[in-house]
Amino acid sequence: MRLTNEEALKLINTLRSGTSPVYHANDLMTGREPEMEDLRLSMQLLSKGSGSVKIISGNYGVGKSFLVNAFKEIALNEDFIISSFQINNGFRLNKIDDLYYAIMHNLYLKTRPTSKVSFDDIFDIWVDNLQNAPYSDRKRYEVNTVCQELSKFNMNFARAFLSFMRGRIQRNQEMMNVSCSWLTGERNIPYELKQKYDLVGAVDKTNTLDFLKAFIKLITLLDYKGLIVFIDEIDLVINDRVDIRQSAYNNLKHLIDLSTSGGMNNVMFVFSGTQEILTDREKGFLSNTALSQRLNINQENPLENKGNLLVLKPLDSLALLSLTQKIIKLYQQNAILPANIDDHEIFKIVMRNLKVEHMVTRHYVTALIEYLDQNKLA
Ligand SMILES: Nc1ncnc2c1ncn2[C@@H]1O[C@H](COP(=O)(O)OP(=O)(O)OP(=O)(O)O)[C@@H](O)[C@H]1O
Ligand SMILES: [Mg+2]
Repeated sequence: MRLTNEEALKLINTLRSGTSPVYHANDLMTGREPEMEDLRLSMQLLSKGSGSVKIISGNYGVGKSFLVNAFKEIALNEDFIISSFQINNGFRLNKIDDLYYAIMHNLYLKTRPTSKVSFDDIFDIWVDNLQNAPYSDRKRYEVNTVCQELSKFNMNFARAFLSFMRGRIQRNQEMMNVSCSWLTGERNIPYELKQKYDLVGAVDKTNTLDFLKAFIKLITLLDYKGLIVFIDEIDLVINDRVDIRQSAYNNLKHLIDLSTSGGMNNVMFVFSGTQEILTDREKGFLSNTALSQRLNINQENPLENKGNLLVLKPLDSLALLSLTQKIIKLYQQNAILPANIDDHEIFKIVMRNLKVEHMVTRHYVTALIEYLDQNKLA
């Protein structure tokens, strides 16, 4: 890897703060080969049509978000569309129609991996090609074919998509905005506007999965390989009221059923969160028998790595040493370290100084950078 000095500085700052970089995660990645291989394999199956659900868990700071970020980079490069968000005050997993809204409002594309895109950005390339098509009939033909495919999932979705495309092609901003809002799960569209553009109903509990399937179909028609949805901080569900929590687990169960039964193709859900979600018998996954059976969680040893579960263990010494070498190289792009600096020696010193009970990657990385900060010459 060769990052610019500015990129290297940014990366070191991110690591100093203990968080995971969004870019260059794959350059920095050490260890985790089996986990990356597992994710890559699921991704390949995904492009052949099947769906899947993965749970990434482990201790605070062990490297869950880092692994997820590295996988995101790969998925975008492989022509998947990504949606990425976390459980927070506005979004819990208990309402499936909220899930659709969250997915549609947190999309990322290969062409612009650094910032969220909006629904209509997805169609830029396609619309450009249509506009430049030598035969004007092709526009109508292609849009109609797509709408026909969508109507197999939900008639209203197909109709809304048609008015969205009409709006885009005719450069009718209002028509485009209103139908775009409708398609992305907005529920408060004024009645007159909906009527004006022939939009019927809204996304709700009963049709939300059909909307999602229609959306996935739509992007595969545009030659994307599928959709990968990343939902972080899943462990926050533990603090929810029991009914909310159980609805969330039932939704998760439902998603697993749909993707494994072939009911929802070309989509992968990657949940991540601390291991309490596995070890808390009273409030975690184990409190919902149907879910924990589907996830195949071992009652005796819930942290066992198998099936849909990827439980991260702390990096071993070899991986930490290699990470040390990479970080020192990056650090030296913007600072001068003593000439006699030795990777092995630094690794040993930092390890010796670390006085934490369960050492995870975050402890090591922040302690290493603190050591470098203290010992740099300029
Ligand atoms: N495999 C790895 N290679 C290199 N750096 C890593 C690796 N795993 C983690 N790190 C670094 O360790 C730190 C903590 O990782 P991360 O933020 O992914 O932890 P986490 O498990 O998501 O923690 P939390 O439970 O607090 O969300 C970050 O600075 C990250 O860059
Ligand atoms: Mg994290």
